[in-house]
Amino acid sequence: MRKYIFEELDSTNNFLRDKKDLREYDLVVARTQTSGKGRRGNQWRSDEGAALFSFALKKDKNLDLKEYRKLPLVAGLSVLKGLSDLEDLEFQFKWTNDVYVGGKKISGILVEMIGDFFIIGIGINVNNKEFGELSERATSLSLETGKEYDIQGIVMGVVNEFKLQYVRLLKGEWSELKSEMNCLNYLKGRRVSVQLPDRIIDGIAGDIVEDGMLELNTGVETMKLDIGEVHIKF
Ligand code: BTN
Repeated sequence: MRKYIFEELDSTNNFLRDKKDLREYDLVVARTQTSGKGRRGNQWRSDEGAALFSFALKKDKNLDLKEYRKLPLVAGLSVLKGLSDLEDLEFQFKWTNDVYVGGKKISGILVEMIGDFFIIGIGINVNNKEFGELSERATSLSLETGKEYDIQGIVMGVVNEFKLQYVRLLKGEWSELKSEMNCLNYLKGRRVSVQLPDRIIDGIAGDIVEDGMLELNTGVETMKLDIGEVHIKF
């Protein structure tokens, strides 16, 4: 595995996207980012003290492309497991790509497909403590415990955890992975408002089901929300 470490980048995802001789599990870590990317074109606040990293995964020809839609979920579970190895906090998985603790976001994941590769970009709030206008909704490991952490150690812990979870996906253990996610499903039982491409629907979130979709009970019917299609508001 090749590892690249920078003081500053525009975005670790962009670094791998533009890399000419990209290889599987190339890993890049930046201390800060000037244009950190979030999902749906959002900016990702990239202060010093956060773990900001991306790694590359090559599409496996034995795995159907639609299975790769589950990658953000597998990455989210890996972050959660990696952080749980460090601290005994109540980390929860927020479908599709986030990790929460105490009702606040501690990590976000952006997966992009570039040719035969998937770039998995992960931001984890580790030693950073200022969130400005996001302070009601975001937290960090340091804010939760009062301790300081070794960022490179956390990055390696999460990447190694991802490798283990990805092998499980390749081996067809999706059902077990899904059960683990559902035990930690932050959205389950919560009233949410879902932005679909053409309309907004309200309902109570349920389990993560086959294909990584999320059940939503609207009171009239139980729908299945597709990964990548929705934006959930509380
Ligand atoms: C989200 O919650 O919207 C996803 C945030 C993903 C942020 C990470 S930080 C490292 C990597 N590089 C980026 O530009 N984005 C991801």
